[in-house]
Amino acid sequence: MGSAEAGVTSLAVSVVLEGLRRLEYRGYDSAGVAVLAGGSVHVRKKAGKLANLAALVKAEPLPAAAVGIGHTRWATHGAPTDVNAHPHQADDGRLAVIHNGIIENDSLLRSRLAARGHVFRSETDSEVAAALLADNYRSLDGDRAGDGPLAAAMRRTCQELEGSFTILAVHADHPGLIVAARRDSPLVVGLGDGENFLGSDVSGFIDFTRRAVELGQDQVVTLTADAVVITDFSGRPAVGNEFTVEWEAAAATKDGHSSFMAKEIHEQPEAVRRTLSGRLGSDGAVSLGELGISDKALARIQKIVIVACGTASYGGQIAKYALERWCRIPVEVDLAHEFRYRSPLVDDRTLVIAISQSGETMDTLMAVRYAREQGATVLAICNTVGATIPREADGVLYTHAGPEVAVASTKAFLTQVTATLLLALYLAQMRGSGDPTEISAAARELAGIPGRVQSVLAGAGQIEALAASMADVTSVLFIGRHVGHPVAMEGALKLKELAYIHAEGFAAGELKHGPIALIEPGQAVVVIMPSPAASPVLHAKMMSTIQEIKARGGRVIAVGEEGDAATTADALLTVPASSPLLAPLLTAIPLQLFAASLAGAKGLDIDQPRNLAKSVTVE
Ligand code: AGP
Repeated sequence: MGSAEAGVTSLAVSVVLEGLRRLEYRGYDSAGVAVLAGGSVHVRKKAGKLANLAALVKAEPLPAAAVGIGHTRWATHGAPTDVNAHPHQADDGRLAVIHNGIIENDSLLRSRLAARGHVFRSETDSEVAAALLADNYRSLDGDRAGDGPLAAAMRRTCQELEGSFTILAVHADHPGLIVAARRDSPLVVGLGDGENFLGSDVSGFIDFTRRAVELGQDQVVTLTADAVVITDFSGRPAVGNEFTVEWEAAAATKDGHSSFMAKEIHEQPEAVRRTLSGRLGSDGAVSLGELGISDKALARIQKIVIVACGTASYGGQIAKYALERWCRIPVEVDLAHEFRYRSPLVDDRTLVIAISQSGETMDTLMAVRYAREQGATVLAICNTVGATIPREADGVLYTHAGPEVAVASTKAFLTQVTATLLLALYLAQMRGSGDPTEISAAARELAGIPGRVQSVLAGAGQIEALAASMADVTSVLFIGRHVGHPVAMEGALKLKELAYIHAEGFAAGELKHGPIALIEPGQAVVVIMPSPAASPVLHAKMMSTIQEIKARGGRVIAVGEEGDAATTADALLTVPASSPLLAPLLTAIPLQLFAASLAGAKGLDIDQPRNLAKSVTVE
């Protein structure tokens, strides 16, 4: 986060701290701020959440300033300590730097710089970048691009760094200036009136301006209160991607809910409705004209590979079932960070679908780049307009969940599943594959899903009571069959990341092949029940599994259709009846509520769980 304001010695500190508060969900292991005032750089930084930094700044005020930068960290190199917090200083404290990313040649550079007399205080790769920038600033003469010696030194530094890095720097020699560079990790300029801003995303400066410029790959920006100059790493003039921020400021408030996550769980009916809007006709016809990939290209596709991480990957696993059944195209689902290392069979007849809420997940971005190098067509399914992944893909299908602030994904997940179902229906209709009666029925059912999501939320009280009664549970298994399997894994992930409880999701059929050894009296098992009407065979098999668990004293919590009287579970969390491929849009919701309620019962931070970040922009 950076802010340069003209004319007034306003409190750049307050602008930067508020910006960091809006960006804190991206990482919150430590935080720091630097301002330029009185010919010097002034820094305050502190381990822990932003509140710790705010307390330090209150105890040790920073001078009034018009230029400042700030950083809230998700630790990669070095523990979350005061010393490892950003900004990092160099050049006898006259330079301050903040950094997002991972510098992969930091060891070599650290040795080389130490040999030249640099004394390092921290364990971080970011301090190495600061020292290298200071070294180049002192040694470089002149600058061909005409944007000053600090920008020239930044370009030289970027040419020597390897890995991913988005860097902001201020120097006491240049009191009204911020210089920044972007490789991989996102960086957006906010264009104000007599003031300009920088942020990892627009939430950092949305209160001040809605005019934004997304910096492209390998660009350097020089920012003053009244000018923004962009070049590439060679000093040639460049342009960013200018856009107007559509966010509603309300998106950054809890609207009376106890947490952003609670708000976002209850926004799901509207989020799904907005994602369907304009794409699903009353006759069941799906239109996705905005994809950016032609029907001709889609008709040639012989294979689909879905790449994603975490919750998004479970959405991808659910999509596999619909795409294969309705489109009759083979589908592979890869964890993005594994994809390019398995020598996948990808060519110009492959459609790679990258699912990402943030559109900045580095693992997924690298998979996208690899896929394109292999000649594949890439379609992004993303919730963030203008993010890096959709900009580097051939086409994009945006979810319209609205900004998701809670680190644990809920409405983004539901809209990802919605979007992949729309895509599967579209491809089937366009290619003439699958059973047209089933596909038409599924499209009509999908149109009614927002109302059914709402009805699941109406049962939140029952789920919260169940969770409160389990506050001391230490292990929970989640099992499911067919699309219930990825739903089970998503439920386990929610419980891990919110309530810090060990949880494992796996295919119900696997239980008897080993995991059943875990079943002992009181072991909680959440069972995602297939529909007794739509999937009678799988339902019967799951009933047998429940018996196997109960015979060993396990405690069964079933997520199943209203009226599934057959289930002998100890507790039944009900959802409306639905066809199998649409069921995850309903069965995932009780698992979200269960995890959030358990975390709340344990007094944990639901929106910013420990060790996590909303967008993991490092590999
Ligand atoms: C989900 O609750 C987690 N926050 C995490 O698994 C997340 O889904 C994953 O990091 C992928 O993020 P993305 O959708 O922004 O790419």
